[in-house]
Amino acid sequence: MRAVVFSRYGDESVLEVAERPAPRPADGEVLVEVRAAGVNPVDWKHREGQVRSDRPFPLGMGWDMAGTVLRTVPGGPGVGEAVYGMLPLPYGGAYQELCTVPVAALAPRPTRLTFEEAAAVPLAALTAWQALAAAGTVAGRRVLVHAGAGGVGHFAVQFAKHAGAHVTATASARNLDFLRRLGVDEPVDRAEADLSAGEPHDLVLDTVGGAVQRSSWALVRPGGTLITLPEPVDEAYRVPGIAARRVVVAPDGAALGEIGALIDRGAVHVEVQEVLPLREAAEAHRISRQGRVRGKLVLSV
Ligand SMILES: NC(=O)c1ccc[n+]([C@@H]2O[C@H](COP(=O)([O-])OP(=O)(O)OC[C@H]3O[C@@H](n4cnc5c(N)ncnc54)[C@H](OP(=O)(O)O)[C@@H]3O)[C@@H](O)[C@H]2O)c1
Repeated sequence: MRAVVFSRYGDESVLEVAERPAPRPADGEVLVEVRAAGVNPVDWKHREGQVRSDRPFPLGMGWDMAGTVLRTVPGGPGVGEAVYGMLPLPYGGAYQELCTVPVAALAPRPTRLTFEEAAAVPLAALTAWQALAAAGTVAGRRVLVHAGAGGVGHFAVQFAKHAGAHVTATASARNLDFLRRLGVDEPVDRAEADLSAGEPHDLVLDTVGGAVQRSSWALVRPGGTLITLPEPVDEAYRVPGIAARRVVVAPDGAALGEIGALIDRGAVHVEVQEVLPLREAAEAHRISRQGRVRGKLVLSV
């Protein structure tokens, strides 16, 4: 099978399309013919060695996929069924023609989505889902999502709205209309706004890190919650009385089933900025690394 692999950590040039043996499913794993793979920032962080696994090179790439079932397990999806899912971290292997996935990480592909759109969902949507769940009830609460136009952000704002929150989200000026279309109550130009001048939030979701995490403490009301994603909580800035923690995404087929139902009801929109062919994985990483993607990038396999 064709697979995008890399044999040393480095820049985009270490990625190559190679002929690799087909993966063999272990107990509880389903073999999937991959039709599309989602691209996430963790993919290039893995390629650069910021996220490492203990397996030997060459390593596979990517955690998000949508495809059809080739071999299944008792109680699993049927052969030929269209599925989507997130592979367990830290071993990538979605940028390839065949992959093995624990059955518990899979859900039926939402019927209104193409394979490319479905592959855009799992990791980013599960991150948003699990981050909101970690914060407890969001109904009636004021939620601020940083980078609301990004992969995680565009799901987080929609899930929070659907759950009944009042949602504020930051983006650059060109994405403010996009945020409005997603239902954001207060889209904020991140270059212009002084967020600390407004009402504090019950929950702030930091999808950016660094200075954004540091400035987020002042935007949470006492007793509120700060959830960080790119980095652990920087203890040097911790504010007593604010619950703060990092959420690390985990595969969850049952949650993907619920997310798929929201998508099929038209309650959640999946934004795909661009679909590139598998052989252009390096270009997809280059674009993702610039940090300006609206929604998601996807590789067609
Ligand atoms: N802990 C976990 O399990 C977990 C899971 C998923 C992701 N992450 C991490 O979370 C981060 C976000 O992931 P993602 O997939 O959402 O990334 P992404 O899709 O690449 O994010 C791109 C978006 O970020 C926005 N942006 C860039 N700099 C910004 C800033 N300073 N302030 C506000 N918005 C900014 C851009 O919007 P504009 O162009 O409109 O500014 C763009 O739409 C990454 O670091 C990723 O590795 C962690």
